Amino acid sequence: MATFLIVPAAGSGARLKSPLPKALVPVLGHAILSWTLEALAPIPFDRVVVAAPPDRMPDFERLLRGKAAVVAGGATRSASVRRGYQALGAHPDDFVCIHDAARPLITAEEAQSVLVAAKASGAATAGTPIVDTVKRVEGERIVATIDREGLYAAGTPQVFRASLLGRAFDTGREATDEAGLLELLGVAVTAVPVSRWNVKVTSPEDLELVEALLKRRRKD
Ligand code: CTP
Ligand code: MG
Repeated sequence: MATFLIVPAAGSGARLKSPLPKALVPVLGHAILSWTLEALAPIPFDRVVVAAPPDRMPDFERLLRGKAAVVAGGATRSASVRRGYQALGAHPDDFVCIHDAARPLITAEEAQSVLVAAKASGAATAGTPIVDTVKRVEGERIVATIDREGLYAAGTPQVFRASLLGRAFDTGREATDEAGLLELLGVAVTAVPVSRWNVKVTSPEDLELVEALLKRRRKD
């Protein structure tokens, strides 16, 4: 039974408004992708596959220097993950961990806790309990307040037994994350709480936050 890592890194980062693909944007002198892989390095994955923008493959290969296989990503995050999965040629009993390149603040301990949960149940995702009061808004008008009890913001890592993930892909259905695809199949997915630091670098202010936190961790 092998454990693989897929890192979707093929997005352009439109909301970050950077000329570089988001995964290559430097923070404290290193690409976001490098920080992310460094954070997960203590976990002995059997193979790591990074999905890169098809027109930037050489840049990613140069950065990774053989430490991970690079595959051409697709037009959407889920298409990129699928391409990474195809490249693995996983056995049904293997486990596949998916972690966004854009989440460099994940810790190996947190990723390990998601792996442990998935190995027990077949499927698990990291998430953070919602702390704000959640409103549904139409136009400018609030139309509902949603009870936040039990609400989680789903993030990554997401870890699945390959047989379940493969079956979910085979349905050809779409969901916003792989956990959602498995839910459509009726598979129970375990929610594993992780720290709110596990932000996804999305907008320029997230970069400031990530830089400050990485600086602090480097000193610790
Ligand atoms: N991703 C990917 N392939 C895509 C789109 C996204 O592999 N076609 C990856 C991103 O590189 C990122 C993760 O999925 O690591 C989460 O996506 P997101 O934060 O939305 O990144 P971008 O799509 O690059 O950002 P934006 O939506 O602002 O363009
Ligand atoms: Mg996106």
